[in-house]
Amino acid sequence: MSTLIDPTVLDAAANALKSIWPNAKPKAGLILGSGWGEAVKDFQGLELPYTELPGFGKTGVMGHAGKLLLAEVDGMEVFIFQGRRHWYEGEGWTPVILPVYLLKAMGADTVLLTNASGGIRDDLKPGSLMAISDHINMLGSNPLIGPHIPALGTRFPDQSEIYRKPLREMLLNSGADAEGVYLATMGPTFETPAEIHQYRSMGADAVGMSTAPEAMVANAMGLQVAGLSCVCNWAAGISPVPLTHEDVNQTAAEAMPRMKSTITNFLHKLVKEI
Ligand code: HPA
Repeated sequence: MSTLIDPTVLDAAANALKSIWPNAKPKAGLILGSGWGEAVKDFQGLELPYTELPGFGKTGVMGHAGKLLLAEVDGMEVFIFQGRRHWYEGEGWTPVILPVYLLKAMGADTVLLTNASGGIRDDLKPGSLMAISDHINMLGSNPLIGPHIPALGTRFPDQSEIYRKPLREMLLNSGADAEGVYLATMGPTFETPAEIHQYRSMGADAVGMSTAPEAMVANAMGLQVAGLSCVCNWAAGISPVPLTHEDVNQTAAEAMPRMKSTITNFLHKLVKEI
């Protein structure tokens, strides 16, 4: 299997979605990371399991539901992708970047990417919500490697401001505690203390295993990108205890009321921006 993005699969998924929901006109999308599913439980609308669309492959990481919700916020349509695919799952880039491709194909112009991360900067204690100001790609790869696919943007996309300043301000005004730089590793292992030491000196404030690929592709396609990270543990070497996915989900559950209100406030503000 090639790890490269397969444009025929992307188009097949977009065509399938257009025929299932021919009248959908999302303005924005949310892609929810580990532990974020509950944050949208009050949103109602049409639901589509990922299995109904080609390209998502199998989903099944704990804390990831694997379905698309078409919801409405003050009259604005929003696609909510509950569950994301990761590079470490080993099925290539197509399932990872499919949500942002579908958003663009359906006419959306804004995407909010959420995730769980480990805190590196001293003020980012577990439970903090960090608006992503920029990222460092340590995945060891890039989803745009391969033959140029014009539908995904230019060959050499500018990345001077992937996470748009106005959206970052909106996140801070919606309940995020601080801004910071997110460093994405390939995972699936948590980091070693030596790696975290190095990442800190590189300028990373929080570390995780997702988001950067979707952000790079969304930015290349001309979507406005926002990123919101729930810092769920101290990073390795700072944390006094070994890291587990269960503890990450537990902290996310405790931070849930704030995660929920921040997302909801952000969407209400976005409607006013239209
Ligand atoms: N490292 C990488 N990914 C993560 C972490 C972490 O400490 N916490 C939640 N996701």
